[in-house]
Amino acid sequence: MKPISFFLSVAVCTGIMTSPLFADVAKGQKWYTKECKSCHGNGTKGAGMHTQDEWDELFGNDNEQIIKKHIGTPAEAYFKGESFKNRSKDIRDFLFEYGSDSGNVPAC
Ligand code: HEC
Repeated sequence: MKPISFFLSVAVCTGIMTSPLFADVAKGQKWYTKECKSCHGNGTKGAGMHTQDEWDELFGNDNEQIIKKHIGTPAEAYFKGESFKNRSKDIRDFLFEYGSDSGNVPAC
């Protein structure tokens, strides 16, 4: 994807989801795009990796399982760091909202 179309798609997405109801989901999508997409593909694909129950489990107990999944990967340091900790709730909300059994599909 060219940088300009990437920028546009981000602008469109965040524009669509400015309603307070979607605050965390929209933020989570933004973080996902920034920090997970390079390895896991777009948000539809990423959120579709797991069902809502599975996302609950992965992010449960202070994100224990999802951190474990990344030990030994190039993302290990990121998952153990503060910035993932601070954003994990938003990212979880996004992934949960669009989990494989949710019936929802992200706008982009
Ligand atoms: C540097 C690349 C990289 C980044 C960045 C990354 N991951 Fe991963 N992730 C991996 C690898 C490698 C695995 C282990 C192999 C696999 O299951 O695909 C993995 C595994 C996972 C799994 C478990 C998959 C399964 O089958 O159970 C989930 C869920 C996941 N990542 C979500 C995320 C989320 C959410 C983010 C962003 C916060 C993220 N990853 C960022 C590389 C990455």
